[in-house]
Amino acid sequence: MGSGALLLQQREQPWFLVLAILGAVYVAAAAFQVLAHIALLLRRPTDLRRRYGAWAVVTGPTSGIGRSVALELARLGLNLVLVGRDPAKLHDISETISATHDGVRTKTVVLDLALVTTPAGDAGLARLREAVSGLDVGVLVNNAGVAKPCAVYLHEVDVEAWVRMVRVNLWSLTEVTAAVLPGMVERGRGAVVNIGSGSTEAIPSFPLYTVYAASKRYVAQFSRSLYVEYRSKGIDVQCQAPLFVETKMTSVVARSGKRRGLMSRLMVPTSDAYAGAAARWIGHGPVCMPNLGHRLQWCLCSFVPDRLLDALRLRENLRQRALFQRLRSARINGGLPARKQG
Ligand SMILES: NC(=O)c1ccc[n+]([C@@H]2O[C@H](COP(=O)([O-])OP(=O)(O)OC[C@H]3O[C@@H](n4cnc5c(N)ncnc54)[C@H](OP(=O)(O)O)[C@@H]3O)[C@@H](O)[C@H]2O)c1
Repeated sequence: MGSGALLLQQREQPWFLVLAILGAVYVAAAAFQVLAHIALLLRRPTDLRRRYGAWAVVTGPTSGIGRSVALELARLGLNLVLVGRDPAKLHDISETISATHDGVRTKTVVLDLALVTTPAGDAGLARLREAVSGLDVGVLVNNAGVAKPCAVYLHEVDVEAWVRMVRVNLWSLTEVTAAVLPGMVERGRGAVVNIGSGSTEAIPSFPLYTVYAASKRYVAQFSRSLYVEYRSKGIDVQCQAPLFVETKMTSVVARSGKRRGLMSRLMVPTSDAYAGAAARWIGHGPVCMPNLGHRLQWCLCSFVPDRLLDALRLRENLRQRALFQRLRSARINGGLPARKQG
């Protein structure tokens, strides 16, 4: 029997019909998600200042996504409380905002988020509480995060490095949120945006970045539950889950890859492009992937079996591991300057 005749015969089977309907529903659901995303991009953005309040708090505004988000919020007319560990860098972003956005006010709070749960961290959090007290803080962006140590097996790294990562990515985010929420509850309005990672939404695992991915899973679940907890109090909590964005965090891996074409620009946006999309998504649901290119990758991943995604991710992260090992040995041999711990 020819393959055409076989196909015709199978098409008459009930199981074939059921599979075809399920497939069509699945594709329609994926297409709907992408269309809903495009519709939101076309809509007039929310006036964040009017809806939530005149001030925004941003952690990690000194580089990458945090810096771009702080500048985008300033462009939208919000005053900023900038929270970071390096006074000189905080001064620099504060000056940039004042120079580029007339009338936007800034405050800086020096707080090393890797020190939460220590006396120095408690003192920093007290400075933050003091800085926001009496301000109409409408938006909190918990952005600061570290991915270092990158591409390593869990047992290869001193446990202190994992403790630092957990403190920055997860514990400090909890403490900063707890410090800012009471004012929002009192005013009955606010938006909390937690920067998670697309690794928890689009792919089943992130080997060799296990503690990083697990800390971001916390961010997603923390946000989902807070969303339900505070919705009736007028506060929108959201986890934004970007895939790769061009920043310091991803620069080594990006430099080792292919040259940037149009496709890679769509798939790996600049931090400014990400921030533009991120601001539009504030208040739209508990978990989102604001960048359209990221959203498309998420959709594509949903058609690929988990085992294949696992294998591809492990292969890529082993490649990154080899790259970081080469860089480390070049540094030890005196070729490159030592890098600051994340
Ligand atoms: N880039 C991506 O592809 C990507 C993808 C998914 C999720 N994310 C998430 O997006 C967020 C921003 O990442 P990014 O790519 O923009 O990284 P980045 O360029 O390395 O910026 C990280 C920011 O966090 C701050 N920070 C780090 N450790 C800190 C500490 N101990 N105390 C206070 N601030 C600290 C940094 O301050 P310094 O300037 O002082 O170092 C910097 O402002 C992170 O949460 C990251 O996990 C990024």
